[in-house]
Amino acid sequence: MLNLKIIIATTREGRKGPAVAEWFHSIAATHTEFKVEMVDLATINLPMFDEPQHPVLRKYKYQHTKDWSAIVDDADAFVIVTAEYNYSFPASIKNALDYVYQEWNYKPVAFVSYGGLSGGIRSVQALKQVVNALKMVALADAVHIPSFKKRIDDHNVFTSDGHLDKSAGNMLTELNKWAVALKEMRSKTG
Ligand SMILES: Cc1cc2nc3c(=O)[nH]c(=O)nc-3n(C[C@H](O)[C@H](O)[C@H](O)COP(=O)(O)O)c2cc1C
Repeated sequence: MLNLKIIIATTREGRKGPAVAEWFHSIAATHTEFKVEMVDLATINLPMFDEPQHPVLRKYKYQHTKDWSAIVDDADAFVIVTAEYNYSFPASIKNALDYVYQEWNYKPVAFVSYGGLSGGIRSVQALKQVVNALKMVALADAVHIPSFKKRIDDHNVFTSDGHLDKSAGNMLTELNKWAVALKEMRSKTG
């Protein structure tokens, strides 16, 4: 069984990220090759990066970093559900990525983004550059949701359609391929 962590990237009060993530989680739960877990950065509540040592050394001073390290280490694959803030990624996800290093290495990551006309695509493009530095494999397949607000009702429930469900399913199939291959690679070469 492969551990898939769905990361909710935004943290502000009243955010819409959880609504989108709940929908994606419902699709991921049908992919039985994954044990799926939601990771909400608002709950994790990391402070602005405060470790004295470079994360590459994995010598953490603070308990919040050790806890975050354990969560990331446990994963075989990630899906980051993210908004676009000012044509880029929310600071909360960059901060969470910066905190640890080896724990991300040689693991696949896919993206679900939401936004206005852009569907959050610029956020994902910018994140790809960051995850590349962490030696992650960023999938070409992604789910971008333009004009996403139209899909969220007053109770914060996201309404999907066949096209989005299919995109999510295809992305998860690709993610599984990479997760299997990279898990084997990690077990053989560290
Ligand atoms: C600081 C900030 C910057 C934003 N910048 C963009 C943007 O560049 N592109 C876009 O499509 N939407 C932008 N939006 C609108 C967001 O798509 C919308 O507020 C969305 O709900 C944010 O995700 P969240 O609710 O999970 O925080 C921005 C929102 C905020 C709060």
